[in-house]
Amino acid sequence: MKSFDIKTKIVFGEHALDRLTQLGRTRVFIVADPFVVTGGLIRQITDRLNVAGADYTVFDDVIPDPPVEKVIAGVSALVAYRPELMIAVGGGSAIDLAKAVRKFATQMDTKLSLRFIAIPTTSGTGSEVTSFAVISDPENDRKYPLCADDMLPEEAILDEELVKSVPATITADTGMDVMTHAIEAYVSVNNNEFSGALAEKSVEICGQFLLRSYASCEDSHARRKMHIASCLAGLAFNSASLGLTHGMAHQLGAKFHIPHGRANAILLPTIIQYNSNINKGSRSRKEYDPCVRKYCNVARILGVSNLNEITTVHALVAYLRFMNSEMGIPANIRDLGSVSAADYFAEINDMAKAALADACTATNPRTPTFDDVVELYKKIW
Ligand SMILES: NC(=O)c1ccc[n+]([C@@H]2O[C@H](COP(=O)([O-])OP(=O)(O)OC[C@H]3O[C@@H](n4cnc5c(N)ncnc54)[C@H](O)[C@@H]3O)[C@@H](O)[C@H]2O)c1
Ligand SMILES: [Zn+2]
Repeated sequence: MKSFDIKTKIVFGEHALDRLTQLGRTRVFIVADPFVVTGGLIRQITDRLNVAGADYTVFDDVIPDPPVEKVIAGVSALVAYRPELMIAVGGGSAIDLAKAVRKFATQMDTKLSLRFIAIPTTSGTGSEVTSFAVISDPENDRKYPLCADDMLPEEAILDEELVKSVPATITADTGMDVMTHAIEAYVSVNNNEFSGALAEKSVEICGQFLLRSYASCEDSHARRKMHIASCLAGLAFNSASLGLTHGMAHQLGAKFHIPHGRANAILLPTIIQYNSNINKGSRSRKEYDPCVRKYCNVARILGVSNLNEITTVHALVAYLRFMNSEMGIPANIRDLGSVSAADYFAEINDMAKAALADACTATNPRTPTFDDVVELYKKIW
């Protein structure tokens, strides 16, 4: 038996943030990316809470790839304030931190009951509609994708005004995270018709609008579309889960602090080649692995469908590499320039072990061995 649930109410379109004026007199704990506070975006939230007559406090001790230590700080601030509502405003890091804070605070203090509204300021993780939160353990160089239904926000507000300030590099990284979510969910062993429909639409929007969104922060139409694509991909992978690209990317983030979307962008073409299992013997095979048909659908949606399955998968891989290069994303880890060969190769075995244990890897369409993952890490150097 399977089920498909969408618990999160999604408010979107022009003036979506005005939803906050309807909240009434309530007590709000806001978890905000520090950028939201220093850049003044926070007023977009607090001005509307003032109209609603709400009381609020702002917790902005958030850093990218939030570590356990920040969760503990958030829990004690939240328990001291005793809110009725939590609002997270920021990228995936702020939203994930808020999810973990709410989960642990309500477990510790069972009298606390609080609703949760997530307001993303990047178009990438889809965290506003997922039951995942990725928390880092810097002491052990690990990132853990936690997954629990009670981490799902009750509401998500998608307002493109908040993503206009995202610089080009972050637009590129987070946009390729969206593309990776959509494609991994689409070929996941847990995919279903509902997740597939959401993933297809997300791929279509990425194909039409990601490069436009990267090219200009003034292109609000493209930015609005990518904000929706990110949410659609989140809904897709919340149902179908992800795959080896994410399983391996988490380790690159934990060990070398490579931004999440950038690690995915570098890995994705190589993992598609690996999953498709297309090699010199493929031409004589009558049937390909089932994910090949799915990758061909993705290629068709992106407009790079080709002569046959083999050339179409090659075209898809080449197209994703083209998108990366158009947006200045390096083709491999070496070209990032931030990781030495000695450090990288010293960590490969450990990263491969952790990638195999990562929850995302379990739904990859091809089951990798330890040696496969080691080779894949070498390949992307
Ligand atoms: N929960 C999930 O389902 C899920 C899915 C994928 C990834 N993740 C996790 O989410 C995190 C990545 O999130 P992210 O990619 O959104 O990046 P992020 O939240 O780490 O933010 C990246 C940078 O962008 C800045 N920023 C955010 N909004 C901005 C804006 N509007 N204008 C200018 N700068 C802005 C931030 O200050 C930060 O420096 C990682 O830890 C990743 O593992 C979670
Ligand atoms: Zn991701």
